[in-house]
Amino acid sequence: MPDAKPIYVLNGPNLNLLGTREPEIYGRATLADIEKACAARAGQLGRTVLFRQSNIEGELVDWLQEARDKAAAVVLNAGAYTHTSVAIHDAIKAIGVPVIETHLSNPSAREEFRHVSLVGKAAKGVIAGFGATSYLLAIEAAALLANEGQSA
Ligand code: DQA
Repeated sequence: MPDAKPIYVLNGPNLNLLGTREPEIYGRATLADIEKACAARAGQLGRTVLFRQSNIEGELVDWLQEARDKAAAVVLNAGAYTHTSVAIHDAIKAIGVPVIETHLSNPSAREEFRHVSLVGKAAKGVIAGFGATSYLLAIEAAALLANEGQSA
């Protein structure tokens, strides 16, 4: 599948600090480690990844809009914006590309304010609670959906 579209892996606020940020919750892998592992797994599945991180909500919205034409599927860890962002929810609804909500931790097992996911109300599905492995499971789901030609 040499001309297959990439899987976009989009990361929200504070995920640039992985490795040193609350490692008892998020583990010791850095975002660069996770990027490398995602690229390797996607490669095994005949896909490439385009991996980005931003602390800015609007930038994540712009990247989701870009994914509409350019991505086969999106793995999205929106960080804290998961729980607050109507703009990200609406962007997911708008693009017609399957989005997999992804988390290192399991927000449902944490504080009450993390139990609501506005991303989850628009996403195709959710993978959470497996640490860095959540990303690899999400890449597998994304590749499967992309190969089936599924839209959102
Ligand atoms: C997170 C969970 C969110 O609740 C939190 O705000 C994050 C990280 C996770 O990957 O577990 O920043 O998305």
